[in-house]
Amino acid sequence: MNESFKRKILCIGAGYVGGPTMAMIAHKCPQYKVTVVDINPDRINEWNSENLPIYEPGLYEIVKSSRGKNLFFHTDVKKGIQESDIIFVSVNTPTKTFGVGAGMAADLQYWEKTARQILECSQSPKIIVEKSTLPVKTALAMERILSSANSGIHFEVLSNPEFLAEGTAIKDLENPDRVLIGSSQTESGLKARDELVEIYQNWVPRKQIITSNIWSSELSKLVANAFLAQRISSINSISDLCEKTDADISEVAHAIGMDSRIGDRFLKASVGFGGSCFKKDILNLVYLCRNYGLTEVADYWESVVRINEYQKERFILNMLKAMFNTLADKKICLLGFAFKADTGDTRETPALYIANKLLEENAKLIISDPKALKNAKKDLKGAQGDISYVEDPYVAAKGCHALAILTEWALYAELDYQKIYNSMEKPAFLFDGRNIVSHQELHKIGFNVYPIGKPALKHF
Ligand code: UDX
Ligand code: ADP
Repeated sequence: MNESFKRKILCIGAGYVGGPTMAMIAHKCPQYKVTVVDINPDRINEWNSENLPIYEPGLYEIVKSSRGKNLFFHTDVKKGIQESDIIFVSVNTPTKTFGVGAGMAADLQYWEKTARQILECSQSPKIIVEKSTLPVKTALAMERILSSANSGIHFEVLSNPEFLAEGTAIKDLENPDRVLIGSSQTESGLKARDELVEIYQNWVPRKQIITSNIWSSELSKLVANAFLAQRISSINSISDLCEKTDADISEVAHAIGMDSRIGDRFLKASVGFGGSCFKKDILNLVYLCRNYGLTEVADYWESVVRINEYQKERFILNMLKAMFNTLADKKICLLGFAFKADTGDTRETPALYIANKLLEENAKLIISDPKALKNAKKDLKGAQGDISYVEDPYVAAKGCHALAILTEWALYAELDYQKIYNSMEKPAFLFDGRNIVSHQELHKIGFNVYPIGKPALKHF
């Protein structure tokens, strides 16, 4: 093995963030040795196979180009720490489910265990980079843990939040809007920061690499996600009003989005946002605000999550009302289970909420998705009711009373809906939770069509 690498990078946590980010660094910086470790041996085995643990367009090609050359995946966290100069911490920081702050605060147990393990195993100075999204001031806690043993080893903690979105991770990593690096403003802090800048400069233009103090960097990640989610809740709240007033949410979004101060992105009304970040990060922000006594600020941001819950509830109530207030024994086909297109990830997916509510109504579920059926089965394990999983949408829809499009997979916009309609029970219903099909055309075919934020097109 070539041991003449410029620096040795370790990433602890081989998840949706750690895996793709390290693959990109290894791909762009052949002079660095990049090792990714995880306590989960199955995950590591998958990273070393042809079937990566996550589906992300373009990821496999990048992993394959560097794996075994300057990109390595294994489970020996201790050895990884000892050998490295720079450690990215990318372990999961889910919402706490117990004790103080349950349901709101970040659960930092994995993160703290990692900090302690770094301290225990280190024999040389290291730069520690926070990649996981963390509450503000976590770097301070990290520094305290790392200096608690008076080991004489210097650890410099940086914050470098990851802004990639799933489904477009490779594009986002290759061509990021910005890279943010927060550091202490001390001599050693700035020196460590420059080392990280140097890594990113291998492919990101210098003007897009921005630096700040460490707390601003930690907070910016939470705020970026809160702002993005807020746009979706804002448009979703207006979609409700559109349905009552015969306005059309796509026309409204287009009209307001052309104002350059507003911009046209992230204005797609939907069944609700999902994913591992938005809800978790907003609740984390809300918890922080409450901690500092900022009740009004906390309430403001919490309403973004409340509107998202309301949007999902509204969707199911609309289905129930449209289908004569009873779903019992009716076959409903869910087109899509992933929280967004181009990923197999189902964390916080609105589809899980919808599926559970339909089961409560004694509906029979047929779930279809090109990449997320494995996770859907895990999510619904133990759920009571009649559920089947069918990848082929034509087979899935056959004999159903209704279709509900829950993920904006491109393939669902291109299906032969005439063929599907012919195979369904009548009257046939279509609930488009993503506004991706041509509602007029489907109505012409015979469907009763219920979009989001547009008048329903019915035949009775
Ligand atoms: C998000 C942030 O975009 C990313 O910067 C951060 O690093 C992690 O969290 P992600 O959750 O992977 O990324 O996907 P994103 O594209 O933001 O979508 C989140 C959810 O919002 C999805 O359920 C998506 O379908 C929904 N969405 C998005 C809408 O409903 N309407 C929109 O206009 C955009
Ligand atoms: P994210 O979406 O933030 O990347 P994931 O849950 O996908 O989060 O990934 C986090 C990974 O971190 C998981 O694969 C988990 O096994 C791993 N992990 C958690 N704690 C540790 C630890 N102490 N050492 C190594 N890996 C860890």
